[in-house]
Amino acid sequence: MDGWSPALSPAGGVSIAGLDLSRPLSGDARDAIVAALLAHHVVVFPGQSVTREQQFAFAAQFGEVEAHGGHRPGAKRYAVAHVLSNLDENGKPSFKFSRAANYHWHTDKPYHPAPPMLTMLHAVELPPAGGDTEFANTALAYAALPDETRGAIAALRVVFRPAFDASRAAVDHPLVRTHPDTGAKALYIGNHATHIAGMPAAAGEALLARLLDHATQRRFVYTHRWQLGDLVIWDNRVLLHRAVANYAADTYRRVMHRSVVRGTVPF
Ligand SMILES: [Fe+2]
Repeated sequence: MDGWSPALSPAGGVSIAGLDLSRPLSGDARDAIVAALLAHHVVVFPGQSVTREQQFAFAAQFGEVEAHGGHRPGAKRYAVAHVLSNLDENGKPSFKFSRAANYHWHTDKPYHPAPPMLTMLHAVELPPAGGDTEFANTALAYAALPDETRGAIAALRVVFRPAFDASRAAVDHPLVRTHPDTGAKALYIGNHATHIAGMPAAAGEALLARLLDHATQRRFVYTHRWQLGDLVIWDNRVLLHRAVANYAADTYRRVMHRSVVRGTVPF
């Protein structure tokens, strides 16, 4: 496909220009986007003008789009992207949202038995600068571990529980997961990971902290600096991500439309 940028960083990222995502994709275009996602993990489509309905339809071309936000009236409307913003109930910018989770390195919903394969954000309103999103490549990080460490963690399972709701059931997944499409092995860690199954709690926490430190070194990270209209998709199976609080969240509006495509059980 025309319009691919050079790689945006050694850790991932590619930009694809010249597509109008408000319209149904050709089969070739869809396949090329999947190939870009598998090769680069983060795919940026600049300058997109899509409604929430059109975004949902775009996401649905890659799999089953998850419902979200059942705790807010009206938010569970089917077949639209949901709104992610720093606005309070009066529509005023506020720092209180997402402090609990989004500013920590995480993958989306790892506490589900079949966590999302990809997440999509469309930048609808942005602060004048900042409000970046960082992505850490956990396959590169895994490959860079010493053989001895890879051997020691090969068979471990990591337990996840929502950091915002300790009453929810825990789910365990392989600490080293295998990408179902590329076969790449990647660390499965981040916020919501509570401990390692069968390991004393303190030792498991220490191991998770050490692996997170390793995986989020700058050499494994791509930082996306948003432009209005950017639509970005990323592969949760090989990436951690976090929002960066590098803007005045209580002053400027930041509004994203988000869609999440269901994945398979990690192995
Ligand atoms: Fe997230």
